[in-house]
Amino acid sequence: MNIAIDGPAGAGKSTVAGKVASQLEYVYIDTGSMYRALAWAVYHHQLPIDDEATVSELLQNNEIRLVRKAGQQHVYWNDTDVTSFIRSNEVSQYASIVASYGSVREQMLVLQRNLAKQGNVVMDGRDIGTHVLPDAEVKIFLTASIRERAERRWKELLAKGSQVQLADLEKEIEERDYRDMNRDVAPLRQADDAVLVDTTGISIDQVVDRILQICERMG
Ligand code: C5P
Repeated sequence: MNIAIDGPAGAGKSTVAGKVASQLEYVYIDTGSMYRALAWAVYHHQLPIDDEATVSELLQNNEIRLVRKAGQQHVYWNDTDVTSFIRSNEVSQYASIVASYGSVREQMLVLQRNLAKQGNVVMDGRDIGTHVLPDAEVKIFLTASIRERAERRWKELLAKGSQVQLADLEKEIEERDYRDMNRDVAPLRQADDAVLVDTTGISIDQVVDRILQICERMG
């Protein structure tokens, strides 16, 4: 069985998907980290983010790998573990720009389908239920109010010592949502056969339980 979890930025997808995967002893694949790794490389090498050909070529000529280490998923750009570099606001914004390029998405689709080939995966992203794994047995669309998503991210960043303002974060999440929902290729939308789970005001564990119940019903 494969489980697809999609939804907007900050809905709690990675945390929830990771927990669901570990409960079911499935493999967790965070597709956002792959777009983020590419975005990091563009940023790191100071390449022109608005040039699709350059960005697409960069992906073609390098390797992104997901590696499990001590129960956590790490993302590698060639031999560099970039996991701790990919969550900054700059990389987040860049990620939604590289993700709007058709030639980048085509390559990512191949990589992601390959990763899911063995089955029993929980994959999270924006287009998993609609494009990457349209035949997934369980599809979840996870969402929450913008305010709550921004607050969650703000608390995370605050704990890491960042000084970011909540209002700025809310604006950035709104911008990222807009780009993700309005791009030409594989925009973020709920698949017709996905179950909507609104996580506003619900704890992570409650969300995980709901999804496990849905898996039991549908699997
Ligand atoms: O999920 P996360 O916020 O880490 O994803 C970073 C960015 O990557 C998103 O804003 C989105 O633009 C892009 N993305 C995507 N399709 C996916 C996963 C992520 O377009 N399947």
